[in-house]
Amino acid sequence: MVKNIIQQEFKITREDRRLRNGHNSFLVFFTGLSGSGKTTISCAMEEKLHNEGIKTFVLDGDNIRQGINKNLGFSPEDRSENNRRIGEIANLFVEAGLVVLAAFISPYKKDRNNIRNIVGPENFIEVYMSTDLEECERRDVKGLYKKARAGEIKNMTGISAPYEPPENPDVKLTQFNSVEESVDIIYSKIKDKLQFKR
Ligand code: ADX
Repeated sequence: MVKNIIQQEFKITREDRRLRNGHNSFLVFFTGLSGSGKTTISCAMEEKLHNEGIKTFVLDGDNIRQGINKNLGFSPEDRSENNRRIGEIANLFVEAGLVVLAAFISPYKKDRNNIRNIVGPENFIEVYMSTDLEECERRDVKGLYKKARAGEIKNMTGISAPYEPPENPDVKLTQFNSVEESVDIIYSKIKDKLQFKR
């Protein structure tokens, strides 16, 4: 597939952009069930970083799936392709010098590992939103669990499709952490990493 394609070298590198921005760039990847709080925490995290003058961008399942990935569904194959593209998109933003906050269910370990390899392990922070199914279902913000229980949605993660929890996440949050607490916990984890070092 990549035959006859030659990687172009550009004059301005990711290191140059990081230096200009005055901070490092990397991916903070939120994984967990639908309704576990990924979007809420990633947006609150972005706000804090943005207010500190850090260049950021949020990638979110519901948005990406309405645009670049709108041809993909929820079979294991489509989720893998969804996640592969997310990894490549995140990598471009990291290359551009931004701190990327990505919120995706990403239920398969192999797909998360693939993303880690695409951006490079040194640029990947995994945040596991471990909110349990009972709580996600109680919240049911989008009404999807109700539909899944009624058999109207197939392949619903946690109901009729699997979720493989991360074994060694950099950060693990639960439904008992408030939004403020969650942001503080993640911030303390990435604080040193934000410093750009050549
Ligand atoms: S992933 O599994 O491929 O990583 P992604 O995070 O992009 O999933 O999309 C999940 C979003 O799609 C959920 O937040 C939910 O709103 C919606 N959705 C629709 N159908 C399903 C389903 N069968 N399983 C999970 N999420 C679904």
